[in-house]
This record gives sequence, structure tokens and C-alpha cells, in this order.
Amino acid sequence: MHEIHIGHLSEFPERRGKVVRIGELELAMFRLSDGTVKAVENLCPHKSGKLSEGIVCDHHVYCPLHDWKIDLQDGMVQAPDDGCVRTFEVEVGDSGQVFLKMNNTATKVS
Ligand code: FES
Repeated sequence: MHEIHIGHLSEFPERRGKVVRIGELELAMFRLSDGTVKAVENLCPHKSGKLSEGIVCDHHVYCPLHDWKIDLQDGMVQAPDDGCVRTFEVEVGDSGQVFLKMNNTATKVS
């Protein structure tokens, strides 16, 4: 596993999705009101809605297309719907630098 520097916490508006591309992978990253940052694949398991455009409430995001509720902590779609999205571990350093922990070799951030 290796860390990829994504940016500084100040670049993550609270409860607004930020799109981060790493190679072929597109992520939706969210700074929650508790100061933590969560990262999920930017693809709803229902019909591929862009989760980065969803509304965040507590630690959930509501897909902008059909309002599925997805837990940003574990990626699980909440009942009555079903499914999950990939989640990625994020670390925020003492200085506010945000790192994504990846277990593959993709490193190019855009
Ligand atoms: S595409 Fe996300 S709820 Fe339908």
C-alpha cells in the first residue's frame, strides 16, 4: 500500500464533493462536518450517477439521480435499496495534508 498526496484540507469544501482522478479511476472525495475526509468511487451502483454531485448529510451521500443513500464510511447502499461502492482509505496529516492510501500502482493524480 502506498500514499498519494491529494492536496490540503482547505481545498475540500465541507460536505461538497471533489472529483479526483487517479489513472483510470475517478473518485468522489468529501470533507465531512466532523473534519474527516472520505473517498468513494464516483459511480453510483444503481445507474452510474456521479456521487460527487450528491447531497451530503452526516456521513451519507444521496445520489443526485435517484436519491439512493450511500454510507461514505463503508460504501454500503442503505435500505430499501441495495449495493455498494468502492471506498478508499484517506489520511489527514497534522498539517492538514490529505493522502489517499492505495494498494495498486496508480499514482498520477489529476
Ligand atoms: S444512479 Fe444513483 S440512485 Fe440511480
